[in-house]
Amino acid sequence: MRTAMAQAEVGDDVYGEDPTVARLEALVAELLGTEAALFTPTGTMANQLALRAHTRPGDEVIISRDAHCWRHESGALAALAGAQTQQLAGYTFTAAEVRAAFKGDDPYVSPTRVVAVENTHNMGGGICWDPSALAEVTAAAHELGMVAHLDGARLWNAAAATRTSERELARGFDSVSVCLSKGLGAPAGSLVAGSRDFIRRCHRLRKMHGGGMRQAGILAAAGLHALEHHRPRVADDHANARALAEALAGAPNLTVDLARVHTNIVMIDLVRGSAEAAVARARERGVLLGTTGPQRIRAVTHLDVDREACLRAAKTIAEAAAEAA
Ligand SMILES: Cc1ncc(COP(=O)(O)O)c(C=O)c1O
Repeated sequence: MRTAMAQAEVGDDVYGEDPTVARLEALVAELLGTEAALFTPTGTMANQLALRAHTRPGDEVIISRDAHCWRHESGALAALAGAQTQQLAGYTFTAAEVRAAFKGDDPYVSPTRVVAVENTHNMGGGICWDPSALAEVTAAAHELGMVAHLDGARLWNAAAATRTSERELARGFDSVSVCLSKGLGAPAGSLVAGSRDFIRRCHRLRKMHGGGMRQAGILAAAGLHALEHHRPRVADDHANARALAEALAGAPNLTVDLARVHTNIVMIDLVRGSAEAAVARARERGVLLGTTGPQRIRAVTHLDVDREACLRAAKTIAEAAAEAA
């Protein structure tokens, strides 16, 4: 990847003159079945450009429980798009829930303009949407005159886990964001994809948000390398996550819901004690984890950890959890 970055042919992408960025945008549009795509520094920017392009201040976005676009984007939806959210109860939801949440044509309420889906769902533990539910939700959004946005930061994982192409999972969405960092292993870079006209609007917003980058081909080359070499291996991360989860199941003072381990994320719940303390103990022993609640630990498998490392990590996590009790 570093060699590909060093050898990248570059130009000024603010003027649309970087051939490597153009190649990456064309490849991702092709993979997602959209007319166009736009390179952004982060997934947050990709999501926020899309949601801002779809809305006007005061509009409402129907969104899942704990969606990244709302929970982990620093209030950008409110601050930059001026949109509000209506959160549904689950990490995934149904077309009936979308219909029930739609507010209709009432001047007293915020117009519901967008349905935003996250697949895989990060805070849901990397769970995948059932592909048929996606089609029903996007159809319901369109019937009601709304648009549908897909936060596909980990769409590669959803595609591998459900054995469904990214293009199929993106079908019916008016915009899609994908990340080249995270499981694909690029140092930075995401894209937002959609129709040509929609991407033109996102392009202006990207400049407004400060995301126009000059010789960005150095980063785009990392993304192209990641798509070619790392995308085909994400199923290995899923198998490693399952092995980690199975090695932890039954350990004292923790629970893992194996049925929710669909991809490369494992959520570990402590029975007693603090997740922060357990994570600090594991860190001292070389295992890096996150917390997503007072007693919830998040572990992620990726291309830099093999099966043996995951099993060693499981041993360390089990010890840290037992000590936290
Ligand atoms: C579901 C989801 N969407 C978007 C993002 C944002 O990506 P970035 O960190 O590149 O802004 C993340 C980051 O973890 C994520 O999990």
